[in-house]
Amino acid sequence: MTVIADLDIARLDFWERPAAERAEAFAWLRRQERPVFFSQPKVPLARSGRGFYAAVRHTDVVEASRNAAVFANSPAVTNPEPPKWVKHIYGDSLENMDAPEHTRLRRIVSRAFAPRMMQRLEGLMQRRAETAVAELAKAGPGDFVELVAQTFTTHVVCDLLGIPEEHREKVLGWVRDTVEYQAVRSDPKGMLRHAVRNTRATFGLRNLVIGLGKERRREPGDDVISALANADVNGERLTGTELGAFFLLLVVAGIDTPGHTLSHAVTLLSEHPEQRELLLSDYDAHISGAVDEIVRYASPITQLQRTVVAEHELRGQPLVPGDKVVMFYNSANRDEQVFTDPDVFDITRGPNPHVSFGGPGAHYCLGAHLAKRELTVLLRELYTRLPGLRLAAPPVPMVSTFNNAVRRLPVTF
Ligand code: HEM
Repeated sequence: MTVIADLDIARLDFWERPAAERAEAFAWLRRQERPVFFSQPKVPLARSGRGFYAAVRHTDVVEASRNAAVFANSPAVTNPEPPKWVKHIYGDSLENMDAPEHTRLRRIVSRAFAPRMMQRLEGLMQRRAETAVAELAKAGPGDFVELVAQTFTTHVVCDLLGIPEEHREKVLGWVRDTVEYQAVRSDPKGMLRHAVRNTRATFGLRNLVIGLGKERRREPGDDVISALANADVNGERLTGTELGAFFLLLVVAGIDTPGHTLSHAVTLLSEHPEQRELLLSDYDAHISGAVDEIVRYASPITQLQRTVVAEHELRGQPLVPGDKVVMFYNSANRDEQVFTDPDVFDITRGPNPHVSFGGPGAHYCLGAHLAKRELTVLLRELYTRLPGLRLAAPPVPMVSTFNNAVRRLPVTF
């Protein structure tokens, strides 16, 4: 039981441990009568708090997601919290807001995900999948992250918003810089070097969309930026800063996360050939279950935080305003009280009430449907064109307390 003796899920080095050890640690935490408290270690370029209670059972995560009167998203859902100046410069993110600001902003940005917009995206998504897989086929064995996952998910979000083709290379470069910055967080020297590039990339992404918003206010088109930047019948629209902040959220939420999920999909289907065979034996019958099982098993976002705003008891643990509660989606998704054989990867699992897109509540992932379509379309194209696709070497993970990220995925076929 050495794992338990020095267990500290708040420290980055815990996340460097082998997956089986981490799973054992969370299984132990789930067995505890009450949520366990963890003190906050110091992290460079972030605000260090007092610490947090770990919501590790499925019921904990559902309760903290659902009960907004007790569990608030502001000031920030990431733990540790970013310094205050970030908000002043970039504007606040939808994820960090509560009603009524959140309700207003979510109502506006939901236009981007309206059925009409999703329908228009379908044909484009298919063509992007064909191009990405053709690139991989042409390049020969290589890194799936760079050749397919990042390119595909970046194009899909750019298509969604209506970012012109001529900006795509630049956007992709900036996305890579922001991802690389996350990858070096554990290395202070590397972090400073990459912090400069990350800042340049973040400003580049933000300013590009603010500029496009201005253009489309003058000359509206039939695209999402126009729909967000121009007022609707109730006079509601996004300001330039809000548009910029929304795009920055989409870079993490809508490009990075689905990209890592695609890499996990390829890894899981390679490591479980019998599940892959089953999927490919009748793709249409199995893909929906497979997608849910991939996101449950991979839990692409590991954790998000809530701040307590009213006295409450969470599974016997008294909470007071100001307390922090961190929801561990990875743990809730392996809760043995909810999932039979939770460590088994089974694409026929049903029901599968995973919380990978968040628990039920006002912040449930806006892009969940889109993410599922991306996985469905890309995996079909991938295994049709390259049926022999498999791992050439084990995936290289990015060590992070926040997400289950894949830095490189060498594949061959
Ligand atoms: C497999 C891929 C994805 C996963 C695992 C994922 C997961 C999540 C999670 C856990 C949340 C927070 C829920 C909460 O706080 O209760 C979230 C929020 C969000 N996601 Fe996703 N997401 C994915 C893909 C996407 C895509 C493709 C988009 C858009 C293109 C997107 C846009 C958003 C937005 C805008 C929010 C904030 C919603 C709000 O605060 O009201 N996500 N996502």
